Amino acid sequence: MAITESQKQLVAASFKKVETISEVAADIFYKKLFEYDPSLKALFKSDIKSQGKKLMAALKLAVGSLNDLDALVPVLQKMAIKHVDYGVKVEDYTPVGNALLYALSQGLGDEFTHELRTAWVDTYKVVATVMRQAAYPNFNPDTYANHKHYVH
Ligand code: HEM
Repeated sequence: MAITESQKQLVAASFKKVETISEVAADIFYKKLFEYDPSLKALFKSDIKSQGKKLMAALKLAVGSLNDLDALVPVLQKMAIKHVDYGVKVEDYTPVGNALLYALSQGLGDEFTHELRTAWVDTYKVVATVMRQAAYPNFNPDTYANHKHYVH
């Protein structure tokens, strides 16, 4: 599940483009996420605009630190543990990942090639695996299956 050098570059370059439309991308992301799972709405207490900014800032940090995973891992671990307090469950990482891919595909249009999609999938898998391993003692990346049902 390692991210290759060229995937890191693809992800970082595409994120620069998404940043220029970050408010729109964040709106698309949350709309899709709540369509997948309306029950997640209740977890978000602060206004969605500032939440969108935080999400983009965190993604920027993660994408910018892919070359320095040693520094990124403890940041992700702390963040994941805070997310347990927000009420986030291990299976919630799946709709979040899919809503992110959807927002990227809408934001980047034709530029969201199959290769770029794979690079983002692999990146999200690394980030979400580190976070879930830190926050949920029973999480096993090899046997874990997503039992969450939502229309996709
Ligand atoms: C790549 C994975 C994720 C990243 C980078 C991320 C990033 C962030 C950041 C930066 C914050 C602001 C506060 C903090 O630093 O803790 C936050 C808060 C939050 N996140 Fe995430 N998150 C991720 C995954 C998820 C998932 C899977 C859920 C599940 C629905 C989620 C739900 C929330 C909620 C409910 C809050 C608090 C909102 C509030 O206080 O109103 N996040 N997230």
